Amino acid sequence: MSQPLLEVRNLRVGFQTDAGLLTAVDDVDFKLEAGKTLGIVGESGCGKSVTAMSIMRLLPQPAGRILSGEVLLDGRDLTKVSLEEMRKIRGNDIAMIFQEPMTALNPVHRVGKQIIENIQQHKLMSAADALKRAVELMEWVGIPAPDQRVNEYPHQLSGGMRQRVMIAMALSCSPRVLIADEPSTALDVTVQAQILDLLRRLQNETGMAVILITHDLGVVAETCDDVAVMYAGRIAERGPVESIFKRPLHPYTQGLMNCLPKLDHPPKTPLPVIPGSVPGLIDLPAGCRFASRCPNRHSADVLASRQPWRECGGGHGVEACACFAHQLSAS
Ligand SMILES: Nc1ncnc2c1ncn2[C@@H]1O[C@H](COP(=O)(O)OP(=O)(O)O)[C@@H](O)[C@H]1O
Ligand SMILES: [Mg+2]
Repeated sequence: MSQPLLEVRNLRVGFQTDAGLLTAVDDVDFKLEAGKTLGIVGESGCGKSVTAMSIMRLLPQPAGRILSGEVLLDGRDLTKVSLEEMRKIRGNDIAMIFQEPMTALNPVHRVGKQIIENIQQHKLMSAADALKRAVELMEWVGIPAPDQRVNEYPHQLSGGMRQRVMIAMALSCSPRVLIADEPSTALDVTVQAQILDLLRRLQNETGMAVILITHDLGVVAETCDDVAVMYAGRIAERGPVESIFKRPLHPYTQGLMNCLPKLDHPPKTPLPVIPGSVPGLIDLPAGCRFASRCPNRHSADVLASRQPWRECGGGHGVEACACFAHQLSAS
């Protein structure tokens, strides 16, 4: 098999807190091929953004630290490269659209200037050419009248337009991997569809690979090739999108699927929710982390030790907790 463009191996990430070391990402693995989209899903607080920030080496400092594992881009471990080297890789090879567009845009600079600076940081280009490229990019991401908008400040733009500016910035150096962290949560559905469509078009044109972090399973079904379901810092289940939707194996994945609205339900049927919430990440059990919310009957045994990972064919794998593993072997 060819080497994947990006591979994350046994990634563990911790935060030093007053209550001790919190392991926000605990032994996460996945691969991403060029031109493909990997969806990372899971409730809030499961470690999705921390995974993304670790790949970018942009963890909040000084509390956040990669404890172990590898992030391989073309086989080169990004956890080991110098900060200067990493600055070159960011933007050029891997770019990220952040969850909060306002935190990534500088409120006191015109948006065009910010895109231009981003381009010039990575590519030798005259100011005039960079301006031309910025306007082109803004047009590309669907910003109307880009030659005027280029002179506006972030606060003059709507949420959707700011999000597009961020995307233009992320795409300005044609990255090979784009990490989009909930790029559409703050947007209305029409804008969301336009942005996802834009990313898809770009992928077809350039072979860019995308990691799409979202809690919207509908978006995942439409846009992703593969899915990784995260729960409390670990991957509970991973596989090709059709396989995950057709045969979700982990009770957590099944719970997320059940929360999707169904067309054959009468109108105003309340949506089911997964009872309880994601546990705090300090003092987690050594074993199954979903046990406290699991609808299956489980014995205390599943809490005692890490439940084994099981590959179930076709790239579909799951943390096979003893509470359902017997069903796997039967199928
Ligand atoms: N700056 C921080 N300091 C301490 N803990 C953090 C920090 N950022 C994130 N965490 C911890 O990491 C966990 C995962 O966060 P995050 O990756 O942002 O979740 P999400 O899946 O919602 O993106 C959080 O529940 C929190 O416990
Ligand atoms: Mg997040």
